[in-house]
Amino acid sequence: MFAMKLHTREQAPKEGKAEEPKQPAEPFAPTQSDYLQFLVDSKEVYMALEDIVNGNDKLAPFRNSGLERTGALEHDINWMATEFGLERPQCGRAGTTYAEDLRQMIKSDDDIPAFVCHFYNFYFAHMAGGRMIGKQMSKLLLDGEDLEFYKWDENVNELKSRNKEAIENFASSWTREERDRCVNETPNTFKGGGSLNGYLFGGSPH
Ligand code: HEM
Repeated sequence: MFAMKLHTREQAPKEGKAEEPKQPAEPFAPTQSDYLQFLVDSKEVYMALEDIVNGNDKLAPFRNSGLERTGALEHDINWMATEFGLERPQCGRAGTTYAEDLRQMIKSDDDIPAFVCHFYNFYFAHMAGGRMIGKQMSKLLLDGEDLEFYKWDENVNELKSRNKEAIENFASSWTREERDRCVNETPNTFKGGGSLNGYLFGGSPH
């Protein structure tokens, strides 16, 4: 899978090929506010993905996929704000920028393969590395509490394979060029998704 090569060795020890980022002098320790910001920005991006899928009939096969995360995130954001007496922040730069880029992306049907790459990577990253991050944050910041963001209504492996199949079916009629447009978009999905991780690992300004 092309996506795996864009992970660093630390993220994915077996398949990661990307260069490790330079380590800052002091390791970054995220706070509850950083995590809340990450959740707010994540919700903005999921909202964009869900609006686009619901608003474009060509993308109808991806509606009600079971992957949707905005409801769970809204719940978690309210819970965290109340539980820890935090003010709900505005969406930060990372979430606003990525969500807006996605909303502007489909200018014609030619752009659909690139969008599908974002759809796949953003949802699937969350079910892979995202769940590992969730466990770390839960221990570090939430006293072991599990957020709804990391719970799905069905078995995650079944959810993944059903959606992988839906994507394969959708792509089965694509030309060589359309397939290339989808695969070649992968670095941009890491740029967009990775920018949100900056809130937790000290990379992105907010
Ligand atoms: C701190 C950052 C990250 C960590 C620690 C991480 C870690 C991992 C790990 C360990 C896997 C393999 C999991 C498995 O085999 O079940 C994985 C898979 C994957 N990651 Fe990441 N990753 C990170 C960032 C990203 C980003 C930014 C993207 C793209 C937006 C991404 C997209 C994917 C995809 C598409 C898969 C394959 C999922 C699947 O086939 O089920 N990851 N990640």
